[in-house]
Amino acid sequence: MPHSTTDSPITIHPITPPQGSTYTFGAELRNANLENLTEADKKTIIDALYTHQVILFKNQQSLTPKAQYEVTQLFDPLATGYGHGKTLDAKRSILHPDLKTIPSQPQVQVIGNGPVASYEGLENITLKHPHHRTFHKDVISDEDDRDNTRFYRWHIDAALYDLEPPKATSLLAVKVPKTAPMKVRYDDGSGDELMVSRGSTAFVSSYTMYDLLSEEDKEFARTTKVQYAPHPYIWMSPCKSRSNGLGLHSSNLELPTTSLPPISPSKIKTLPMCWRNPYTGALALQIHPSAVQKLILADGTVIDDLGKVREIVYRLQRPGIAPTLVWGVDWEEGDFVVFNNRGVLHTVTGSFLEDEVRVFRQCNMAASEGVLGPE
Ligand SMILES: [Fe+2]
Repeated sequence: MPHSTTDSPITIHPITPPQGSTYTFGAELRNANLENLTEADKKTIIDALYTHQVILFKNQQSLTPKAQYEVTQLFDPLATGYGHGKTLDAKRSILHPDLKTIPSQPQVQVIGNGPVASYEGLENITLKHPHHRTFHKDVISDEDDRDNTRFYRWHIDAALYDLEPPKATSLLAVKVPKTAPMKVRYDDGSGDELMVSRGSTAFVSSYTMYDLLSEEDKEFARTTKVQYAPHPYIWMSPCKSRSNGLGLHSSNLELPTTSLPPISPSKIKTLPMCWRNPYTGALALQIHPSAVQKLILADGTVIDDLGKVREIVYRLQRPGIAPTLVWGVDWEEGDFVVFNNRGVLHTVTGSFLEDEVRVFRQCNMAASEGVLGPE
């Protein structure tokens, strides 16, 4: 039921999943003036994010980059720098081509597809929507490619080296080409598939992902730590993804340490496998499946056989991306989404023709503090 916190006009309307879907996250927030929030509004929005994980504000076409930054920063007022910091300066990072920084607000990036003559101080830029053919081991045939797609890469927005994972990410849909929907094919032997709008951003709840585990696996997840590769997006750059976007194939393609930028051991991230929601106390199974390098078990045993590490993580995570559990956002221009980056996984889907122009703004900040573990 819609409700608002005392003194704020903002009302909260949980998303109703389409028939057949069973996900239990997502909410639309109405009556918010994001350029001018009161303290009561801010409290309502923060509560809503940690209760519903993904919150949507409609009709935010005129939201300034500064206001986007300020709303995103509500969840971590001490955080000021972009979530990947300067780590994307390295030209070899797999994330580098996807982002253009807004000069007046460097925590806000422009992403999308096609040629853009001028936008927020950026002139004559060409955006490129990530296509699974650049990342997946096997790909959908050219003739099927217009109507079929994949989850590009399930992930957390995080540098996972040196910097702390952002608490929240925001996405503003500035320009959205509306065309026929697409079928997401898992192509992992399950026969699973899901209809989404073209260019949908797909989300799953990592709390649900945890809840689906057996008691034995929950115990394992609560007591195991994940060590991420140093400079993970450069390290994994030669690797290819599973067809459902949930982690990488293991073919010994990862770059050796000697081919990476200098490594400070103190900057390597070892994080809990389960991250606690600061409001509800719920545990999320929160692992970036492509960046994982080692698992450290409760008794101190280190699993460093990468193939084995990935198999374990995949087995734990795969049930959580079942088609019924995925919210594929059907973007409309002016949609502004903020998500709990420590409680959901998300991925790009879809493909666009070269001249189909799509413009989005993304914002997140490296957090001012580490993640909450299960203890
Ligand atoms: Fe992302």
